[in-house]
Amino acid sequence: MTAVPKYLRLGVNIDHVATIRNARGGDHPDPVRAALLAADAGADGVTAHLREDRRHISDDDIARLRASVNLPLNLEMAATEEMLAIALRHLPNAVCLVPERRQELTTEGGLNISKNRVFLLDFVETLKAADIRVSLFIDPAEKQIAAAAEIGADIVELHTGQYCEAALGTDTGAVDKQLQRISSGAVQADSLGLEVHAGHGLTYATVAPVAAIAEIVELNIGHFLIGEAIFDGLENAVTRMRELMLSARQETIAGLVL
Ligand code: PXP
Repeated sequence: MTAVPKYLRLGVNIDHVATIRNARGGDHPDPVRAALLAADAGADGVTAHLREDRRHISDDDIARLRASVNLPLNLEMAATEEMLAIALRHLPNAVCLVPERRQELTTEGGLNISKNRVFLLDFVETLKAADIRVSLFIDPAEKQIAAAAEIGADIVELHTGQYCEAALGTDTGAVDKQLQRISSGAVQADSLGLEVHAGHGLTYATVAPVAAIAEIVELNIGHFLIGEAIFDGLENAVTRMRELMLSARQETIAGLVL
C-alpha cells in the first residue's frame, strides 16, 4: 500500500555561503546570516557540512549556528573520531554521516555501510545515546538501505546526484530509471521504519519528481539555492523552492485521494 504522504520539509544547506566568504578569508558573507534569512523564508531546517579540511563551514560557524538559529541543525560530517567529538560538543538535532575523500569537490557517492558495518554500528550508537538523530547518506540501493536499518540508523538520506546528472542530458529513459531507484528505495526504507530524506544536486528543474515521492519527508538543498540567491535573493529562492516542493506533494496527495 502506498504510504500516506507527509509534510515535506526543506533543509537549506548554507555551506557555499562560507565558500564565498573563505575566498577572501574575511567574515562576509556570513553563513549564519544566510541561515536566519532562510528561516524567515520558511526553511524547516539548516544543514551544514563541517568537512575535515574546513574548506567551507568552520567550527566557529557550527557554534554560532547552534547559538543563533532557531531551526533544527542537521550536521553533515564524516564518520571520524574528530567529528564525533565535535558533534557531541554541539549536540545538533541530527547528524548526517557522509563519505568524505579529500580531493572530491562535493560528496560524490553514498556511504558504503555494508563494508564498514561494525565501525558504523558503534558510531551510530554513540550519537543516538546523546539524543542526536542519525542519518546515513546512501545511494538508493537495496543492500545499503537494508544495512542502514540493521545498524540502527533513524534516517536515510537518498543520494539524488545520479538522477540530477541524468536530468542534464536528453536520455529520458535514464532519468526515469534513476527516479525509479529513488522511489523504490524510499518505499523500502519507509517499510523498514526509517525516515526518508533525499538530496544532492536538486534544482528548480529537478525537485518536483523527487518531492512527489510520498515516503520522502525532507529534502536538503544547498548549491543551487545559494547560486540562485545571487540573482534573486536567498529568501525568494527558498520561497520558490518550497512552492515547487509543496505543489508536487499536493499533486501526489490529490492522486491518492481520487
Ligand atoms: N545532502 C548531503 C548529504 C550532501 O552532502 C549535500 C552536499 O553537501 C547535499 C545534501 C546538498 O547538495 P547540493 O548542495 O548539491 O544541493
